[in-house]
Amino acid sequence: MEKFIVNGGCRLAGEIEISGAKNAAVAILPAVVLSDGLCRIENLPNIADVSASLEILSMLGAQVRRINKNAVEIDPRPLNTTVVPHDLARRMRASSYYIGSLLGRFGTARVSMPGGCNFGVRPIDQHLKGFTALGAEVSPMEQGMIEVTTEKLIGNSIYLDAVSVGATVNIMLAAVKARGTTVIENAAKEPHIVDLANFLNTMGADVRGAGTDVIKIRGVDQLTGATYSIIPDQIEAGTFMVAAAATGGDITVRNVIPKHLESITAKLMEMGVQVDEYDDAVRVTRTEPIHHCNVKTMPHPGFPTDMQPQIAVLLSMADGTSILTETVWDNRFRYVEELRRMGAQVQVDGKVAVFQGISRLTAAPIKATDLRAGMAMIIAGLVAKGTTEIEEIYHIERGYEDVEKKFTALGADIRRVTLPDGVLSSQAV
Ligand code: EPU
Repeated sequence: MEKFIVNGGCRLAGEIEISGAKNAAVAILPAVVLSDGLCRIENLPNIADVSASLEILSMLGAQVRRINKNAVEIDPRPLNTTVVPHDLARRMRASSYYIGSLLGRFGTARVSMPGGCNFGVRPIDQHLKGFTALGAEVSPMEQGMIEVTTEKLIGNSIYLDAVSVGATVNIMLAAVKARGTTVIENAAKEPHIVDLANFLNTMGADVRGAGTDVIKIRGVDQLTGATYSIIPDQIEAGTFMVAAAATGGDITVRNVIPKHLESITAKLMEMGVQVDEYDDAVRVTRTEPIHHCNVKTMPHPGFPTDMQPQIAVLLSMADGTSILTETVWDNRFRYVEELRRMGAQVQVDGKVAVFQGISRLTAAPIKATDLRAGMAMIIAGLVAKGTTEIEEIYHIERGYEDVEKKFTALGADIRRVTLPDGVLSSQAV
């Protein structure tokens, strides 16, 4: 077991290079299954969710060769099974994408229900509705497995009842080699949807409209191999932007697409933070107190739910009352209890949290309740008075590359402690 020890009070300053996008990577790796050639994926973040997806590819029979920390070559031609077992599927949410890609290639897939962060109920009914519309039969099996099978996938029109990233990805994957044209209406518009479409098109697919709420996929018979570089991670960039703002710092966040950050930039500016945009970088500086502000999460291009816990740290230090409304997930405020332990004044009622800003958080033993909340806890530790210990940091490892290295390079006082086997974390320093 490991934990982070964070000494508060540092002002973060300097430059940071953003890694490839987790949520694009975990869609693009399953998409490789559909290829009829060798694929080289670059700017791949070196994170646990990517390792889990590469393990699934190897287990399915693909040849996976690491070129370096951030590039991999995958030959999916030798794939010889269509089953993703529970011990691999439970490690990440995006294991469900192997249903779409295996179905698209072989007409059958058997995948265990996926894992991932716990935000209450995380249904996949819209994914299954899409597969059914394309002509597949969906059968729940024992031990949480789902089998999806068809003789032939045939394009169809699908209206999503919820704007779902996962359903949009999964239907795109299944439809790429289907006969005829598939139209996804009320599709998700996130940057990772566009990145997946670009990767599929680089392999010879015919996907149009990604980034709008209507995506049209004309089925093709074959896909070639491809070399593809993943887009920068919008949420990692936003997280370091918030870290700059929270610590009264000055950080230039490099290797970003500023357009993807607009909703985050807008909120930071509303809070009195200075954000300067360049071609592929943003510089975030704060010299004034943080103004209170209301934030509501929305599907893209709205304020991302995956930035909700990080912005909450800023609201807990703002100069008045702020309201944070979650509209995507039923239960994404589990971390608030941890912030309260640090002195934050927050009341949660369902999907709304009301913050009464305080001048400074105080260190406390806390835990990462999920991936993004874990990063928020690091930011809280950086601004708090005293030494904060953060447990259950394996959540953070799922989605952020070189966490303590990147923070340390900006001047943070953060270190990782490995607890010897059998030692309760509260006994360790
Ligand atoms: N939903 C349904 N039915 C479905 C699918 C989704 O009702 O079949 C509902 C969900 O319950 C939720 C909403 O639709 O209320 C949005 O869910 P979505 O399917 O978009 O979420 P997801 O695909 O499971 C991805 C990201 C999440 C991110 C959400 C929303 C990946 C691997 N995960 O999840 O990212 O919060 O979209 O943007 O892309 C993270 O990176 O920390 C993370 C949790």
